[in-house]
Amino acid sequence: MFMETIMMKRFELSELIRSDNFIDGKWVTAASGKRFAVTDPATGKVIAQVADSGYADARAATDAAARAFPAWRDALPKDRAAVLHCWHALIVENADALGRLISLEQGKPFAEGRGEVMYGASYVAWFAEEATRIYGDIIPQQQRGKRMSAIKEPVGIVAAITPWNFPLAMIARKIAPALAAGCTVVGKPAEDTPLTALALMILAHEAGVPAGALNLISASRENAQAAVADWLEDGRVRKITFTGSTPVGKYLARESAGTLKKLSLELGGNAPFIVFDDADLDAAVAGLMASKFRNGGQTCVCPNRVYVQSSVYDRFAALLTKRVAALKVAPATDPEAQIGPMINARAVEKIERHVNDAIRHGARALTGGKRLSELGANYYAPTVLADATPDMQLSCEETFGPVVPLFRFNDEAQAVRAANDTPFGLASYFYSQDARRIDRVSRLLEAGIVGINEGAISSEAAPFGGVKESGYEREGSKYGLDDYLSIKYLCQGNLA
Ligand code: SIN
Repeated sequence: MFMETIMMKRFELSELIRSDNFIDGKWVTAASGKRFAVTDPATGKVIAQVADSGYADARAATDAAARAFPAWRDALPKDRAAVLHCWHALIVENADALGRLISLEQGKPFAEGRGEVMYGASYVAWFAEEATRIYGDIIPQQQRGKRMSAIKEPVGIVAAITPWNFPLAMIARKIAPALAAGCTVVGKPAEDTPLTALALMILAHEAGVPAGALNLISASRENAQAAVADWLEDGRVRKITFTGSTPVGKYLARESAGTLKKLSLELGGNAPFIVFDDADLDAAVAGLMASKFRNGGQTCVCPNRVYVQSSVYDRFAALLTKRVAALKVAPATDPEAQIGPMINARAVEKIERHVNDAIRHGARALTGGKRLSELGANYYAPTVLADATPDMQLSCEETFGPVVPLFRFNDEAQAVRAANDTPFGLASYFYSQDARRIDRVSRLLEAGIVGINEGAISSEAAPFGGVKESGYEREGSKYGLDDYLSIKYLCQGNLA
């Protein structure tokens, strides 16, 4: 047994802020001794100077993961589950401090930050339970004297590379299934938000994750590629799990091909949200608000293109604009904040570019359409744009901000065609009360996820992932463990 009793420890926020790498159960500086600044997107103030890792640190992490692998692989599933249950309990116990840390480095309001902690923790609990249910198969006998079976084994070392928009949930939902399966992990969080991931290492260590089974390095934007390159080339790393942009996903797939690793890629989206004229408009507005403005519009699954049938277009636009104009934009420290700052200057510039381009092409801002410079450099007003058209940049690219472009359509075929007219296929949404249409449209939409009269689709029990250039494989649910396992076929002959 790795642990017999669960000792809950509550940490102060200051105790959860670490600035070194976590390798082989120890906190170590980068081999180069270099550091980079992590800043609060609300104020631009430096929160910490963290390790700026490179090739040598990535290699040290892999070495530690390789040493830890045999014992962790051979641990009883119920013992791995116990460690994960303990990690889950510690995350929940420290939800307030972790939520504050997420707000501090990522900018989302505290209620959302705390919500993210509970969302991320739910994956840890889920995979703690799944750890004990990794079944194989006895294959029905084909020949006398021969027995065939299939067993599932951990793939080996997993490299987890995660984005800034959910600093806790994204890494938790990669580490938890990896550890549950018996894999060991090397990880790198995004350079904007490494602190929450580092804090999770404190809790994982406290929970009894053995030294070397879980290793995390941070790296600046400039050095990230060099650090990750070592994992791509190293044949001991058997799987890459990545959430982030499609260009980076393609790079990882290309560069890891030399050692033919398993890959799980959760990439960009360009989610359509269709409102048919038979929809409950109030429910559609509520669903759009929940899904579009989660994390200020900085999620891969948030609607990027909203298609509204002509006959209800003006009514829907008016109902939506009233709700959007009332959103409170403020720093995460304001208890009433509903939208915080965007992550960084590049993010605001992209939003501004998309909105200006749309207006140049004939869109009308019903509300918003400008920076909120009085609050700080990274704030953008929640925006509704009427008369959006397919030639606008925001129709083809993810805006990743609080902007709702409203496109008009006349019939179902036109809406489905427009929704699918993108290389991406992560989430999609539609609102309708017609049972036949619901059946038809949910089959026709080219997406890994379809929200039907529902804007909140994420859950640890559901398979999360995309099709087309939004990537492949699934996270969460009963399917989420498969990517961390390989099937071994055993054939025993010469039985009497
Ligand atoms: C993401 O935006 O990358 C993930 C969102 C989710 O898990 O709901």
